[in-house]
Amino acid sequence: MNLKHRTILITGGSAGIGLAFALKFMELGNEVIVTGRRQAVLDEVKAKYPKLHVIQSDVANPAQIAALAARAKADFPALDVLMNNAGIMLHKNLRAPASDLAGLMEEVNINVGGVIGMTSAFIDILTANRGTVINVSSALAFVPLPSAPIYSATKAAVHSYTQSLRFQLQETGVEVIELMPPAVRTDLTADLPEGSLKLITTDELVRESFAALRAGAQEIRPGQAKQLALMRRLAPDFINGQLWKASKDLVPIAAA
Ligand SMILES: NC(=O)c1ccc[n+]([C@@H]2O[C@H](COP(=O)([O-])OP(=O)(O)OC[C@H]3O[C@@H](n4cnc5c(N)ncnc54)[C@H](OP(=O)(O)O)[C@@H]3O)[C@@H](O)[C@H]2O)c1
Repeated sequence: MNLKHRTILITGGSAGIGLAFALKFMELGNEVIVTGRRQAVLDEVKAKYPKLHVIQSDVANPAQIAALAARAKADFPALDVLMNNAGIMLHKNLRAPASDLAGLMEEVNINVGGVIGMTSAFIDILTANRGTVINVSSALAFVPLPSAPIYSATKAAVHSYTQSLRFQLQETGVEVIELMPPAVRTDLTADLPEGSLKLITTDELVRESFAALRAGAQEIRPGQAKQLALMRRLAPDFINGQLWKASKDLVPIAAA
């Protein structure tokens, strides 16, 4: 991937992995726009990094996606990178009926619906500018973390969707990259107890991912993501069992 002279929109770029990527892309001289749901968090980020563009938008809300796309295309006609990064992870108890069936779909709507909706809303400008889509899935696309069953399923779905997208866009000049991070220390993993999984920092993730982006990788599996992909092929029962053991205590007592 060409890492210079790009105009990059990162969903969920107000914190964690998205913000770390935004700052690295800015450091390389690119124009960067980040989105998130909470205006107050975006305001804080803007105050700290005035060169960063911030726009409030929820990837689970189709009307907000459409408004974001219209605004971004008008204000940033050179936009040529979409990083679908926004995501949430919830631990779920599947043993009892959920009290809120619609609420059960929250991760699906954000983690999968967001990627699909945003990609569709921006595909025309990305094609016109011969751009790049970066979808952030997870190492859990290979092996589920059973305490986060819906989350893990959404990441497997994003992995599959990204492969199809790459094939369909082959002749358009749009490159499709998938970032499959291992466990990274962010707000999303704040409830993982120390020692249950090895967590890397966003700095470590950025370092390894940008080296891979620079080298032209299409599927980036930093750190333990590489091992999980390998273990899933060599010893699937063993690695599935290990992740169940590591996450068993994270299953909430009650269903959502
Ligand atoms: N951390 C890990 O271990 C890890 C590992 C593998 C993959 N990932 C993936 O990496 C991505 C980023 O995760 P992270 O760890 O950086 O999480 P994080 O620190 O919790 O940050 C999530 C970001 O997404 C935004 N967001 C959440 N829901 C949104 C929505 N509906 N619309 C727009 N923005 C939304 C959040 O802001 P608001 O809350 O204000 O909207 C925030 O800016 C996710 O897709 C996650 O699944 C993370």
